[in-house]
Amino acid sequence: MKVAIIGARGQLGRELVKVFGPGCTSLDIEDVDIREPVGLRRVLKTCGPSVLINTAAYHNVPECEKEPERAFAVNAIGVKNLRDICLALDLALVQISTDYVFDGRKSIPYTEEDAPNPLNAYGVSKLAGEFFARQVPVHYVVRLSGLFGVVGSVAKGGTNFVKLMLEAARTRDRVAVSSNIFASPTYAPDAAVRIREILEAGLPPGIYHVTNDGACNWHEFAAEIFRRTGAAIKLEERIETPELEDGLRRPLYTVLRSLKTRPMRPWQEALGDYLREEDASSKRIE
Ligand SMILES: NC(=O)c1ccc[n+]([C@@H]2O[C@H](COP(=O)([O-])OP(=O)(O)OC[C@H]3O[C@@H](n4cnc5c(N)ncnc54)[C@H](OP(=O)(O)O)[C@@H]3O)[C@@H](O)[C@H]2O)c1
Repeated sequence: MKVAIIGARGQLGRELVKVFGPGCTSLDIEDVDIREPVGLRRVLKTCGPSVLINTAAYHNVPECEKEPERAFAVNAIGVKNLRDICLALDLALVQISTDYVFDGRKSIPYTEEDAPNPLNAYGVSKLAGEFFARQVPVHYVVRLSGLFGVVGSVAKGGTNFVKLMLEAARTRDRVAVSSNIFASPTYAPDAAVRIREILEAGLPPGIYHVTNDGACNWHEFAAEIFRRTGAAIKLEERIETPELEDGLRRPLYTVLRSLKTRPMRPWQEALGDYLREEDASSKRIE
């Protein structure tokens, strides 16, 4: 299996590069822009992978709502370009997708069999990307939720929820966090390992939900971060987050569960590893 990873500098991409090792090809926006089919085809023909993993996305959710053309250019047409190349060069495609394809109206976890119904431009554009990816004979549409990894999300300025809470603990004496938004926190290295396992096991093509086991609301997530780091910050409850805020509709419940693979380790255990990694990397920076 010869793997090429697009979005290799990103939060998940970096972990995929580690998990697939030195034999994989790392590509990012400096090497290829998935919106440009000619350059994309030239680069992929040269590096000759058998599997293409696409993590690249325009996924700052409020910005996607303001710039739906750009969201669709990257998240939908970009994946259509990848579909065309995978069909022409006979490659397998792993397309990273999102819990935001769901509307959040359920109160039990969403499985791969649930019907998507995105509420915002980001979710609609990612669902369109799934549609194109599924036209490749060997495709894996991998939906993630609440991703956290040590480099943070490039699209979100190098941050993620855990980093934001650690920053709050360093700089503030109190913080208010929503307790009515539920997700499945997912540690990027664990997701990368699971993606490799799915490929190596040769599981049937299709949609896969890949998250750490369990679920929480953002308030519980923050409480666990502060408990594990011994932060003295006061955590206040903000329960009133509406589905529609500042013109953006967000799903309030996007807990994912897989019917196809065994559960991954609990998010709390993964968070412990993340915090140790974060601590080690901040000490390296000092
Ligand atoms: N972060 C989350 O909480 C979350 C949750 C669910 C699903 N997801 C999905 O998970 C995936 C990975 O997220 P992440 O946090 O690892 O992303 P990330 O850190 O923002 O990394 C994405 C990488 O893709 C590159 N990129 C963006 N547009 C590109 C283009 N047109 N052509 C080539 N490369 C491009 C980015 O480079 P530049 O930014 O420098 O252009 C960046 O290095 C995304 O598909 C996202 O939709 C994320």
